[in-house]
Amino acid sequence: MNIPTRSLSLLAWIVLAATARPDLQAADAMPTLEIQADRATAKFSPMFYGLMTEEINFSYEGGIYGELIRNRSFKADAINAGIKPNAYNPAKYYPVQIAVSNPPKFWRAVGGAVLMLDTNTPLNEALNVSLKLDASAASKQSPAGVANGGYWGIPVKPRTTYRVSFYAKAAPGFTGPLTVSLESADGKTSFASAKVSGLGGEWKKFQTKLTTQRGQPTKDNVFKLTTAMPGTLWLQQVSVFPPTYHNRPNGTRPDIMGLLAGLRPAFLRLPGGNYVEGNFFNQRFNWKETIGPVEQRPGHASCWGYWSTDGLGLLEYAEWCEDLKMEPVLAVFAGYALRGDRVEAGPGLEPYVQEALEEIEYLTGDAATTKWGARRAKDGHRASFPLHYVEIGNEDFFDRSGSYDGRFAQFYDAIKAKYPQLQVIATTPVKSRVADLIDEHYYRNQQEMEAQSHMYDTRGRTNHTKVFVGEWATRVGSPTPNMAGALGDAAWMCCMERDADLVVLECFAPLFVNVSQLTGSGRSMQWESDLIGYNALTSYGSPSYYVEKLFAENHGDVIVPVKAEGIPTVEQVPPAGRRGGTPQPRRVPGLYYTATRDTAKGTVYLKVVNVADAPQPVRVNMTGVASVGRDGEAVVLAADSPLETNSIEDPLKLAPVTTKVSGLGISFTRTLPKFSVNVFKFKTRLDRSGASAAAAATASQAENNPGPPPPTTTAPAPTTIASTPTPAPAPGAARPVPPVRIKAGKSEPIKDAEGNVWLADQGFEGGQTLERPDIQIANTKTPDIYRAERYSMDSFSWPVPNGKYVVILHFAETYEGINGPGERVFSFNVQGHEYKDFDVWVKAGGPLKAYVETVPVAVTNGVIKVTFTPNVENPQINGIEILPQP
Ligand code: AHR
Repeated sequence: MNIPTRSLSLLAWIVLAATARPDLQAADAMPTLEIQADRATAKFSPMFYGLMTEEINFSYEGGIYGELIRNRSFKADAINAGIKPNAYNPAKYYPVQIAVSNPPKFWRAVGGAVLMLDTNTPLNEALNVSLKLDASAASKQSPAGVANGGYWGIPVKPRTTYRVSFYAKAAPGFTGPLTVSLESADGKTSFASAKVSGLGGEWKKFQTKLTTQRGQPTKDNVFKLTTAMPGTLWLQQVSVFPPTYHNRPNGTRPDIMGLLAGLRPAFLRLPGGNYVEGNFFNQRFNWKETIGPVEQRPGHASCWGYWSTDGLGLLEYAEWCEDLKMEPVLAVFAGYALRGDRVEAGPGLEPYVQEALEEIEYLTGDAATTKWGARRAKDGHRASFPLHYVEIGNEDFFDRSGSYDGRFAQFYDAIKAKYPQLQVIATTPVKSRVADLIDEHYYRNQQEMEAQSHMYDTRGRTNHTKVFVGEWATRVGSPTPNMAGALGDAAWMCCMERDADLVVLECFAPLFVNVSQLTGSGRSMQWESDLIGYNALTSYGSPSYYVEKLFAENHGDVIVPVKAEGIPTVEQVPPAGRRGGTPQPRRVPGLYYTATRDTAKGTVYLKVVNVADAPQPVRVNMTGVASVGRDGEAVVLAADSPLETNSIEDPLKLAPVTTKVSGLGISFTRTLPKFSVNVFKFKTRLDRSGASAAAAATASQAENNPGPPPPTTTAPAPTTIASTPTPAPAPGAARPVPPVRIKAGKSEPIKDAEGNVWLADQGFEGGQTLERPDIQIANTKTPDIYRAERYSMDSFSWPVPNGKYVVILHFAETYEGINGPGERVFSFNVQGHEYKDFDVWVKAGGPLKAYVETVPVAVTNGVIKVTFTPNVENPQINGIEILPQP
């Protein structure tokens, strides 16, 4: 987060500011996006879309990590005082202290049991405390024991098997049995129970399964461990796991993994964020203490205010990557902790550099020939993991001492020497070395995201260093972003994608939030506007999640330039500054866009974001292609209001809708819904001859039969933006306005008997097309005009300079299902001229006869529009001519 302080009050200010909405100002003329489909400004990195993760908002504990028991190792109250670097030996293990006078957090006594934390009976050096359970009051009538309510509930699902395990030892005379069960919190329902016995004077691991029967999924439940026999026992590492993703032991939660899989991520930036650094050196993510058997992992106090068991450790991160076919982007601790402690470059830093090299070896080293590769195999994963990127620290711009340059150089040199193939990421600009990438972070409100959404277009390309946008989010909406946030995200993602020659990796942050307790002491959320929300039982994707999904699912392998004309603007009121004052409104684009092409399939993906509070017609022109398939697909995420959102109660209120679209061509129009993120997928064939159909069409238009006015700029820059609408040429201006003829229902242009070119079907919104190549048509010199039709369409629009025109509509009843008058009746409206209850059969005097309706119109808004309304059967049309009048 590149703001000068990490204080929450500043964050609150940003969030408040983000609720302001701009007023809409509609454009006067239709904006045009010209996709230069045969050009590629960059290859699109297959690693582009990824995830960022850290332990925040109960992301692992009470999140993706499958464990259901909260405070399973009784260290939630551990006193983990920060140690200064000069007193700290990174190779040494520093056990935490436990305040034994505190009652064990998140556990409660059942029956007459007395609970105490006990450091005199530790399980081992790592788990140096246990729960002493005095059950001397236990009886058959009143069993005594402990209950745990999980992370704001324990999810119980029907016909599901839960794996219970715990370590226990007993005072002399007590052997059990113990009953473990899943029960409703009110104690009225027991879902499953099992008995274990055989406790003794030594620590022993016990395991059993609980299988539920039929019923509804619920979360207001507890796990109980009780005994009916009087005695004393100790417990440690009390664990309950539901089924996990891919059934991995110590694995992850399937519903959340399913949501992540939907994002098709290529990488996981891990383990932070601030979490890699920790508040102090002894609270960093010390990867060596997060591997091996879970009961030997000490855990640590994480910087987000709660204890981490490190059950999800380095190997589990890597397996999480493996399960979703992504690879780690590994952030290593770089000798700087969040509260400002640091070790300067030099010998003092060397142990941390070695630690990083070993961490890389743990992930990538050969199991047979490297020490840490062998350790990974011993931990259960013989195969190495792919790794291409290593990040040195996190947000080291907070280190005002200037030590990062030297620290980075020391890590960089050591990593490049041993792993020259790795790309090394800096977290702030450095001069000492040329970093392969720089990690930039942007947490902004919607207005700021939109305002910076052309930022990378103009960034210099001479520097070798590429950009990793390793944390970013439009922070509007809590706990998860609303549609305003999603629109800001989409505008920003257009920028990153369009500039993918420079930006090679990106990931939203934070990824997760447990939404169970949003406020108050011990809350489940430390940071608002997170991508995915969940409680103990269910999870959901925010509108921003669906934007990520739309983008990640729909892209090609090269970026193609889009030339924009007449982009409307909207008024933005920037957020008030921290010192008050009334910020001046400013105008920013109302549309954002990017296009990519799949070179093998020829599919072009156009993404367009309409942030305005009104539908926006857009003309799309494609150049450099021989043809564009008439049929394509649109995927649209839209909302009635920017405040609409998804939630745990209404998880799919906003979700993308995919529809088939037809009437596409080298030039066509679409109306984008208000507040919408749109992806259009077209099938194209590139014009390899060098003279594209689009160019040919443009040329022929110029002398004979043109389509929309050609773009006014031909600059080779990847993208041009007009911040105000392009004015239509004045009537009578130097350039004569040529006629336009559209052959509805045909994918190729045709010529009429006079030699006029009729452009292929385009300009329609909605409907389908049909060809009847063999029929005979009376009353025309050019029957071909009537041998194809568009039917069931909503409208047709075509941008023209303001002035006078004659619009000629061509109809013929050619459908064998219509056998007389009154069987197809519809209305149409041409620039306000209403034709009600129009019956082609009646007008033409029967089937297979051409009928022409001529409508003189005056255009003052830069577009000719025809709308169609069905009455009986569908509207249909065969052709439209637009003839300029003097
Ligand atoms: O994503 C939340 C936090 O923001 C990250 O931990 C940190 O890197 C940034 O300040």
